[in-house]
Amino acid sequence: MRIDVLTVLPGLFDCFLSEGIIGKAVQSGKVEVNVVNIRDFALDKHKVVDDVPYGGGPGMVLKPEPIFRAYEELTKEGEKPYVILTEPWGETFNQDMALEFSKKERLLIICGRYEGVDERVKALVDREVSIGDYVLTGGELPAMVIMDAVIRLLPGVLGNEESLKADSFMDRGLLGYPNYTRPAEFRGMKVPEVLLSGHHKKIELWRKEQSLRKTLKRKPEVIERLKKEGMLTKEELRILEKIEREMEGGKES
Ligand code: ADE
Repeated sequence: MRIDVLTVLPGLFDCFLSEGIIGKAVQSGKVEVNVVNIRDFALDKHKVVDDVPYGGGPGMVLKPEPIFRAYEELTKEGEKPYVILTEPWGETFNQDMALEFSKKERLLIICGRYEGVDERVKALVDREVSIGDYVLTGGELPAMVIMDAVIRLLPGVLGNEESLKADSFMDRGLLGYPNYTRPAEFRGMKVPEVLLSGHHKKIELWRKEQSLRKTLKRKPEVIERLKKEGMLTKEELRILEKIEREMEGGKES
């Protein structure tokens, strides 16, 4: 996959693209990321990329010309990218979107800035994406969030074990089970006995129960939806019944 990023703050991406799992994915060529400074495509000698809004009001708006020029330069050859604009009022990013984006050959992310982006830029955009209901100073962190979630889904980026874990639970929106590592007892807090048992079937059942418990408590709407859509296994339904019985009896643990 190739990802082009249009930004006025390219330096923000340096650590993100050179450290950890994402750094490795870049170094091994599993993803090619091309961070482009919008300023390089400004028309005037002062490299101005923003201007005051027509009609007045606070803040500055990103001008359309440098963004269009950058887009045209980057898409002169090769496949047309799927274009994402980071924007606080966009569609809220989620795992399904990450999965969808990870299947594209090429992405181009335009990082919004200042008070906004000239509306005409949206003629280039396939999807306006927000990473949550809060306003950041710019679209660079959202672009990194989107890239992180997408790149980790690319083939070979994660070890098998981790990707399997994500696939079996995250796809249906169930929350993860609790994890422990050594030591078996730390400051009086013990690792649940079952995890030390080496009994794989029991461990799997325990994890499933924990995941269902957590989801039922924090996101009951996810359980409702999965039930309605027939997306839970017989075993999961049985565990849920047990948990619900416990909760009715006021014995929830
Ligand atoms: N730009 C500013 N805030 C944002 C947000 N929450 N999501 C995406 N882009 C943004």
